[in-house]
Amino acid sequence: MTIRSVLRMGNPGLLQPSRVVTHFNNAELDQLLDDMFDTMRAQNGAGLAAPQIGVLQRVVIFGFDENPRYPDASDIPLTVLINPHIEVLSDSLQEQWEGCLSVPGMRALVPRYQHIRYSGFDQTGVRFEREVSDFHARVVQHECDHLDGILYPQRIRDMQSFGFREELESSGLLCAQPCDD
Ligand code: NI
Repeated sequence: MTIRSVLRMGNPGLLQPSRVVTHFNNAELDQLLDDMFDTMRAQNGAGLAAPQIGVLQRVVIFGFDENPRYPDASDIPLTVLINPHIEVLSDSLQEQWEGCLSVPGMRALVPRYQHIRYSGFDQTGVRFEREVSDFHARVVQHECDHLDGILYPQRIRDMQSFGFREELESSGLLCAQPCDD
């Protein structure tokens, strides 16, 4: 079990575009994924992208066994998504609170497409696609942004919604959440 440290906003590694994965089904990729899952679980994250642990490859993971931070979000299966592609299925944007393990302790309202189809490959190189909406769609868009060096603060429309989680909770803007980031 290897919990890797998560790069925080300000680290230039988070702003780099990641490379396409060309080799599947190998020990190196499996080790990367093990480390990513250990790290995500240790932080109770909803997802994690490889560049967040300093690996510039187009690999993201997301989903839940059961997550105290997102009790209503158990409908997102634990997923490995490699070389992802997102197709937007409607122009409809939805604003919801978002956080990121690379921006600890903070939250903002972020607009995301409500309805998307995503495709990509699992760790064995098998292609799959899913049509999803709402929180599932949000998580995928957030994680895939990491692969292009984009962090959620760059997506905020109204910067007045951007703040420390505890302050937003105290002011009643954000409902209390059990974990830190
Ligand atoms: Ni993130």
